[in-house]
Formats: sequence, C-alpha cells, structure tokens
Amino acid sequence: MVQPVHITGVGGYLPERILTNAELASLVDTTDDWIVERTGIRERHIIAGNQHTSDLAVEAARQALDDAGLKPSDLDALVVATTTPDMIFPSTAAVVQSKLGASGFPVWDIQAVCSGFVYGLAQITGMMEAGMFRRVLLVGAESMSRILNWKDRTTCVLFGDGAGAVVLECMDGEGGIMGSVLNADGSYRPLLMAKHPHPGASPDMPDMRIDAAGIAAIEMRGNEVFRTAVNKLGEVVGQVLEHCHTEVSDVDWLIPHQANIRIINATAKKLKLGTERVAITVDKHANTSSASVPLALNTYYREGKVKEGQLILLEAFGAGFVWGANLLRWTKG
Ligand code: COA
Repeated sequence: MVQPVHITGVGGYLPERILTNAELASLVDTTDDWIVERTGIRERHIIAGNQHTSDLAVEAARQALDDAGLKPSDLDALVVATTTPDMIFPSTAAVVQSKLGASGFPVWDIQAVCSGFVYGLAQITGMMEAGMFRRVLLVGAESMSRILNWKDRTTCVLFGDGAGAVVLECMDGEGGIMGSVLNADGSYRPLLMAKHPHPGASPDMPDMRIDAAGIAAIEMRGNEVFRTAVNKLGEVVGQVLEHCHTEVSDVDWLIPHQANIRIINATAKKLKLGTERVAITVDKHANTSSASVPLALNTYYREGKVKEGQLILLEAFGAGFVWGANLLRWTKG
C-alpha cells in the first residue's frame, strides 16, 4: 500500500546583509514609497561576496534535517530547485550533498525558476509514492542579486536572496501531500528572462543585455507578467482544489510565491480567500524565486501560525511561464 508523503522538517536561511529600499534609492532613480506601494517590498537579504547559492542551501538544509531529527546520511535523495546555480555543472545539489558531508544517494537540480519548489514537491512526491525513495530533502535556494542589472530600477528592486528546505518522509497516517497541478506555456518566455551569457546561443532573442559583471541580467515586461500571473495562479489553485476534492473554504493557509503583494492580494481576492489566511513575507524577503515558498512556509511554521491538521495551499508562477500548486494537510505539529 502507498504510504502518504509528509513534511517532517522545515528550515530556512537568509544571508545577514539587509538591503533597504532607502539604500536602493541611492543606487537607482526610485523611492521607498514607490517600491512599497507597487510591490509591498520593504527590504531584501543579499548574499555575501564569499557565499554561493549552495551555502544558503546548506544552512536551510541543516535546519530542516535538525527539525526532522535526521542526519544527512539518513537521506535517500537530495534535490535543489534553483535558477542561480553555483555553476553550470555540477549541479548545486551535488555541491550541497558534499558540503553536508554525505554521499551514496542521488542528487539533482530542478530549474523551474520561481516555480522550482512547487515543481520539486510534485516531482518528489510522485517518485516517493512510486516507492523510489522514503526520505528526501528538497531545497529552494537562490542568489538572485547575482543576476540583476543594478542599473535597471524596474527589476533590481524586486528580488532578494535566501533558501528554504523541507524534509519529506513516507509515513503511515492521514494527511501529508495530497496533490499537485503543474502547467507551463513556453511561448511567454520573452516577457521574463535572463539570457544565456554566450552571444549567439539564443538566436531568437538577439538583443542581449549583459550587466556590469558580465552575467546575463533579468529582463522583464512587468505589467504583462503581472496580468498573466494573476490569471494562471487563479486557474491552477482552482484545479488543485478540484483535483483533491476540496473547497477553498477548507483552506487554512495560502502560502503563495512572494513576488508582489498586489499579485498575492489579487489571487486571494479571485479565490475569495480572506487576507488573514494568506502568508506574507514579501515585505522582508522580496522575490527569492524558488526559495520564496519554502521560506514563507518556514517563517509561518516557526512563528507557530501553521498548525497540526491545517490545510495548506502552495502556489508559484515563474519565467517560461511555468506555474503550479500543491495542496497538503499539515502533520508536523
Ligand atoms: N521606481 C520608480 N519608478 C519606477 C520603478 C521604480 N523602481 N520601476 C518602474 N518605474 C516607473 C516606470 O518607469 C513607469 O514610469 P512611466 O509611467 O513614466 O513610464 C511607472 O513606474 C509605472 O510602471 P509600470 O511598469 O506600469 O508599474 P507597475 O504598476 O506595473 O509595477 C512592477 C511594476 C514590476 C512592480 C509590476 O508590474 C510587477 O510586479 N510585475 C510582476 C513582476 C514579477 O512579479 N515578476 C516575477 C514573477 S515570478
């Protein structure tokens, strides 16, 4: 018989350096008021010069393993969702495994940009339900500050760095991960991208813009991203509730991707879900891409807001576009 997959450990890590809106206003032509009003963001954490994405992931992973009462050697697999890997290869998951002092189980990265964690949770749950693994660590980790054009006020104010992690275990008992719905439409890709740094690699996108460090920087048509995100998130959240035979009125917490408070509020309004049931960390974390959902989950878990037996809805939307949602019954206490 298939045992359900439960979250048994949660962790998070934010680099020490906090960059406020006021500091950003000394770098580009912006104001604290504009950023707060249009995005809800007040500050973000920025990775230190001597840190890599894997270092953020390791901190979050250690906390999640401690929380589950496990050692790295107890794992059957380790997966890192990231769009800002330490290098093209090996995978950041391989670096994290080694930094944790472990070996002897499979590791791989997932690249679904801001939807990486939601995609990862769906993928791993499916593999665990198929009997491949019993204990898996899933991390979302990003150093978005490394792929920003710090002269472009329309994008550099939106992102931050950090990592969030969960331990997933097959165990008897009601609840756990109930279902997921994933979707994508690659025809939207010109609206949001960070192009490959090698000229000629993307012939359909010739107007490459490289930031000062020589790294491909994020480019975005914000308005169009905003509109599509609200539509697709509303749709996928309805689909996952239907898939799990649940009503929106049963949901205790919506833990959404933290890109913009206006996207979050518009999605909640579409669902007729009161804001008191919506987790918000975008004010302190900004958009940390694949780390955003597990970081928000970790924050609300550690603040004692997420409680035993509650129904939790996760959703995310990212470049591609790719989007998805997971529904779970919290069993961690
Ligand atoms: N500070 C001050 N002014 C800014 C600014 C900034 N940081 N960024 C843009 N502006 C200006 C624009 O240049 C524009 O000026 P103009 O009217 O003179 O041309 C004006 O503000 C309005 O720009 P607009 O893009 O229409 O604002 P908006 O209300 O759509 O907000 C975003 C912009 C980026 C905050 C919003 O579109 C957004 O959040 N989109 C989704 C982004 C996202 O979440 N991406 C990741 C998805 S995973």
